[in-house]
Amino acid sequence: MPIENPIDALSNPSEWAGLPVSITARAVEDCTVDLHPDELSLASRFGAKRSNTFSSGRKCARDLLISLGQPAVPLPRADDGSIVWPQGFMGSVSHTDHWAVAAVARKGPGTAKALGIDLEPRQVLSSRLLSKIATEAEQLALEKEKDWQGIALFSLKESLYKCLRPSFGKFIRFHDVELSGLDTPQPTIKFCSQELISHCDSKDLELRLSITAEHVFSMVWWRAESV
Ligand SMILES: CC(C)(COP(=O)(O)OP(=O)(O)OC[C@H]1O[C@@H](n2cnc3c(N)ncnc32)[C@H](O)[C@@H]1OP(=O)(O)O)[C@@H](O)C(=O)NCCC(=O)NCCS
Repeated sequence: MPIENPIDALSNPSEWAGLPVSITARAVEDCTVDLHPDELSLASRFGAKRSNTFSSGRKCARDLLISLGQPAVPLPRADDGSIVWPQGFMGSVSHTDHWAVAAVARKGPGTAKALGIDLEPRQVLSSRLLSKIATEAEQLALEKEKDWQGIALFSLKESLYKCLRPSFGKFIRFHDVELSGLDTPQPTIKFCSQELISHCDSKDLELRLSITAEHVFSMVWWRAESV
């Protein structure tokens, strides 16, 4: 089991993100005792492994909301699988088999419209998987890279999906999005789908990566106003 807390490297999450945001992580375990009855009815349909990741993720999210002065409200699941956050808040959850992470931010002027996070174990992706998730240009850029950039590309696309899917209202394909600058802390993004271009100006998206010995952690957030 990976022993590293995946967010220990982020001494100041808001500074890292460029957004007032709270982020927390906990080792995955059975946290069903902390679930709201509405969430428990959902978790009761899961097997033990999924129930542990679900309940650990919900506990991370609720702990953050409580730390921000919110009561312990239920966090239901929307039809698209995302979390329905309480009024005035936005957030995102991700889990590996061993760690759950949540990020929560207040809505309001000067913050974000939406955010998404993703956590992955650091690993080298096979060329077969890379061809599924990376455009031709991305594959060319990754050709010399054998370490973490493939999984970072994957993680950022998952974060982007979580950030945009609820407002976009439909599935986003891996090849609809092209990333560059993965070797920098703030990669950039281009949309290859007219529908996405109409939905969101990619210049309003902020991308973040944190690469540690055992994990790749990413975040994408959508600026509420263009700067
Ligand atoms: C939905 C998806 C992104 C989840 O990612 P994952 O790596 O499988 O799982 P993670 O642990 O990181 O995240 C799971 C959490 O994401 C959240 N989530 C699920 N669907 C979501 C959606 N449509 N929008 C926002 N968040 C969502 C949930 O909180 C979920 O945890 P929970 O069910 O315990 O509440 C992934 O399964 C998927 O469908 N990917 C294909 C689409 C895609 O990524 N396209 C790339 C576009 S460039």
